[in-house]
Amino acid sequence: MPSLEQVRGRLEAAGQAHALQFWPELSEAERRGFLQELAQLDLQGLREHCEGAARAAASPAPSLDPHMEPVPPESIGSVRKSDEDSLAEWESEGLLRISENRVGVLLLAGGQGTRLGVQYPKGMYDVGLPSGNTLYQIQAERIHKIQELADGKHGSKCTVPWYIMTSEFTLAPTEKFFKENNYFDLEPSNIVMFEQRMIPAVTFDGKVILQEKGKIAMAPDGNGGLYQALVDNKVLEDMKKRGVEYLHVYCVDNILVKMADPVFIGFCVSKGADCGAKVVEKACATEPVGVVCRVRGVSQVVEYSEIQRETAELRGPGGELVFSAGNICNHFFTRAFLQDVAENYKGQLKQHVALKKVAFVDTCGNQVQPTKPNAIKMEKFVFDVFPFSRNFVAFEVVRQEEFSPLKNADGASDSPTTARNALLAQHCRWARAASATLLDERGDTLSPPTSASAADNPPALCEISPLVSYFGEGLEQLLRGRTLTTPLLLDRKRAQELLMKSSIDRTRDV
Ligand code: UTP
Repeated sequence: MPSLEQVRGRLEAAGQAHALQFWPELSEAERRGFLQELAQLDLQGLREHCEGAARAAASPAPSLDPHMEPVPPESIGSVRKSDEDSLAEWESEGLLRISENRVGVLLLAGGQGTRLGVQYPKGMYDVGLPSGNTLYQIQAERIHKIQELADGKHGSKCTVPWYIMTSEFTLAPTEKFFKENNYFDLEPSNIVMFEQRMIPAVTFDGKVILQEKGKIAMAPDGNGGLYQALVDNKVLEDMKKRGVEYLHVYCVDNILVKMADPVFIGFCVSKGADCGAKVVEKACATEPVGVVCRVRGVSQVVEYSEIQRETAELRGPGGELVFSAGNICNHFFTRAFLQDVAENYKGQLKQHVALKKVAFVDTCGNQVQPTKPNAIKMEKFVFDVFPFSRNFVAFEVVRQEEFSPLKNADGASDSPTTARNALLAQHCRWARAASATLLDERGDTLSPPTSASAADNPPALCEISPLVSYFGEGLEQLLRGRTLTTPLLLDRKRAQELLMKSSIDRTRDV
């Protein structure tokens, strides 16, 4: 470990001598800890990082609007616009690849979830479903089920490894939570957790921030820190060893995420894509989501904040938005592409500026909770590798079936309530599509919501465990013609009972 004097010298050279302002006040133990932390910082790159952050925050990004074009039709597929046969073919292709152990899923779970405002990783959040399941549990059950579906079709005994990128904030609690929950009955060796890097938050004049007298404010380097983390933690080697060739990367907060979605994977594989993104049609021109498009002929995501209103509002001949492909952070990558990024491109990833409120110690040693943003966090984004792809495809899915993110606390959009209702509404649709009738607690029939009534009435409490159905399949044989009282939790045990009842009923019919 470098000496205090060496570290002091490097901090001075980087214009950050103030970091040691309170050194004389620190205890021996605090000094040891702080010195260790400072020694781990890239002190050589620190000046460039701090000055670069201040420069980037002060200068607006150049306008991309004149160079934007929508994704060309030959590079975009769509659930809504495809016929049943094509969808079935893609699903079949995807299930085959899964059964061959060639598909892995990778969860981005390094974020701090500041908008949701809980002190623990977002994946541990319980949105209030009848089962009480957390986001992690729901995702684990979807892995179980997709493995089962692939095995059922191909007579295999396959594994979909679950890679989980965490950060200093989320690794320890996530590990503990998985352990306490017995890894949700998945094989622990098939769950690979790894940590992304942290970088200092910086003031608007390019100074690192003291969060405590002996601690610099650090933040994860954004979900695009994935590519460095894959290298740091030898994740690509692990994928190679297991024979994983295709990776489905997704965010922790989308309660409807179809992990290892065979339709999406099959679509990307059959198009020979090295990189793909699921998109949803934007709800309106001003919806704050990034747009998947081309800029100067190269595929990329343009953030909503980077597009002028007139561009966002452009419409085609049929009245549809020209830039309608909303990014939902659901990506397909081949391992070969990730290897290429790791070897050749990860240093070229764009840095984005995020302005945040970061608690700090002022020059007099007082702890301050800022009321407005005081810090720049530089972040890389996972989608910024799209321009390096040789064959990029987009795949449009139906929003109400696949996208409901948990971002904010209740009272705002994308909250625990909206996420819970999106899942329950989907499960009510599945039950009705399987010809079940749902009753309320008083025994009155619940009619399917109309678009007007849906806004005011929460959906019935009908939850179907992913262990019973991954995406609505297999429910007919359980629910056909049945009348079910809500609240209803259709878990494996209940499904088993219904199955037994069905066979008894059938015997009686005979
Ligand atoms: P968000 O942009 O929603 O950020 O992350 P967040 O940190 O979860 O929430 P806020 O902005 O503090 O409220 C989108 C996805 O990227 C992951 C998150 O865990 C989430 O799955 N992420 C974000 C990382 O893995 N690492 C990061 O450094 C940032």
